[in-house]
Amino acid sequence: MLGIIGAMDQEVAKIKEQMTEVEVISRAGMEFYKGILSGTEVVVVKSGIGKVNAAACTQILADYFQPEAIINTGIAGSLCAKIDIGDIVLSTDVLHHDVDAVNFGYPLGQIPGMDTLSFAADAELRRKVKEICETVNPDIHVYEGRIVSGDQFVSEKSTKDKIISWTQGLCTEMEGAAIGQTAYLNRIPFLIVRAISDKADDSATMDYAEFEAKAIEHTVGVMLATAALYA
Ligand code: ADE
Repeated sequence: MLGIIGAMDQEVAKIKEQMTEVEVISRAGMEFYKGILSGTEVVVVKSGIGKVNAAACTQILADYFQPEAIINTGIAGSLCAKIDIGDIVLSTDVLHHDVDAVNFGYPLGQIPGMDTLSFAADAELRRKVKEICETVNPDIHVYEGRIVSGDQFVSEKSTKDKIISWTQGLCTEMEGAAIGQTAYLNRIPFLIVRAISDKADDSATMDYAEFEAKAIEHTVGVMLATAALYA
């Protein structure tokens, strides 16, 4: 079984439409859609926005459904000039950009007591999804690299530059690191698949809705083909 998490309605609605034999299980105010997608058993869920919602959602997914892998799909702000609106970023690893225990001797981003700075995504799944992205969306670029997360919609250049300066992240969003960390704790392979909706700077809110819809379109086809990998 494959678990698919999106933070917002728009990110999961089109995927849910393609499912059959759907059963809805409610936990912690979240609706887990269990059913068949591309011949594979999947659970698709809207976590809500931010790291706490994402972590709670991932843990429920792990406990109740024991997925073979978890994919988080959605949108993100680009942290890299060459990564354009509509392009897709696949996570090599995820890092919290808003964690700071430097005073206790930890590098920025590392959670005290945890044995890793960032959480590594599944390399084999990433390789397969990259191939899928190139086939499904031949008109856009797909990049592989670090995705960073914080409980913050980044829309100021100074904030963006600060995050870039120490994280080496390709894009920023609000859930991936929480999902990656929770998957890591539960030893479940994961991958974050994000389409770029904005440049995470002063232009971030301009035409945001239109770009958001386009970006999401790019991820839906990828999710349908990715589910088929688990058939
Ligand atoms: N999701 C999409 N764009 C984002 C941004 N600029 N900051 C945080 N999360 C986002």
